[in-house]
Amino acid sequence: MGSRITGFGAYLPPEVLTNSQLEALVDTNDEWIVQRTGIRERRVAQGEGTAALAEKAARKALADAGRRPEELDLIITATVTPDCFTPSVACMVQAGLGAVHAAAFDISAACSGFVYALDIADSFLRTGKFRTALIIGAETLSRIIDYSDRSTCILFGDGAGAAVVEASEKEGVLSTCLWADGAGGGVLRAQALPQNEDPFGERPPQELARRAVSMAGGEVLRFSLSIAPRVMDEALSRAGLTIADIDWVVPHQANKRIISGIIRRYHLPEEKVYVNIDRCGNTSSATIPVCLAEMRERGLLAPGQRLLLAGFGGGLTAASAIIQL
Ligand code: UT7
Repeated sequence: MGSRITGFGAYLPPEVLTNSQLEALVDTNDEWIVQRTGIRERRVAQGEGTAALAEKAARKALADAGRRPEELDLIITATVTPDCFTPSVACMVQAGLGAVHAAAFDISAACSGFVYALDIADSFLRTGKFRTALIIGAETLSRIIDYSDRSTCILFGDGAGAAVVEASEKEGVLSTCLWADGAGGGVLRAQALPQNEDPFGERPPQELARRAVSMAGGEVLRFSLSIAPRVMDEALSRAGLTIADIDWVVPHQANKRIISGIIRRYHLPEEKVYVNIDRCGNTSSATIPVCLAEMRERGLLAPGQRLLLAGFGGGLTAASAIIQL
């Protein structure tokens, strides 16, 4: 028994924040942002929390899979911007959908979160314990961004993506690879609470209280460029495949330069790599499922295709998976 993805869905809040709008907030310009990141605009939720975004994406994924909420056994939400410590976003989605038979919990693995959630769901489904799971990546990063910090505020956006994963005789999750290096986590941080002291011993408390998201951009960029191929190679090797067997690469959307690095490393034709960073920016755990749902909607996905997913970022974490549709 294996598992396969049977439905995709995404929801992006309607409010658009363009590079030129950011020019009014910080000392930046459209040309710098486009050249250094590939981002032209991102969405920011107004009046909607993470669970609201997640529920909208979930409803679309359920419709795509032809499943009713009552058929769900499990809901996992990957997020670093939950609305509350408790209830979890997954529990709020469970209530909103009326998924009365589903267990529900959140995980925190930042930009790798959706692939972590896929691996967890796949593991449950393989045991036969559950038959139908809903996995979601959802973020309202705009709530924890310091819009006076030009090194981070240009990068991030809000959104949610979801997928229905079902137990299946036909293997749909061919391999996964999860990785973490907590010792390196200080380079990309988002404070949950004001602190008395800095556990990493690097910055004074007033600095932490002032800045919700702080990042050593260059270090995270170098980390991403080196870890992405490592976890991608591992997923390929575990599945007994090479990059030539892959129809689509769907990388985390953190910076177009990282995606270009992946394209160069594997000598990939650009049309095999899905990119939406220009429109969405970095939505952390939502990037990969939003890409997948857009690909479905645009008619780019077909039965039998193999997709290589690669997430990397805060934690530090990284994760890859090869799925067959
Ligand atoms: O999702 C998790 C994974 N996240 C990532 O992988 C993100 C990784 N990091 C990045 O994408 C890049 O490091 C950034 C886009 C954040 C920054 O690009 P960079 O090429 O690493 O630039 P930099 O930080 O080295 O800064 C170069 C210059 C600096 O000025 P000086 O010191 O050379 O005079 C910055 O102060 O660019 C300046 N700068 C800006 N200028 C205009 C930094 N941010 C901006 C800005 N607009 N928004």
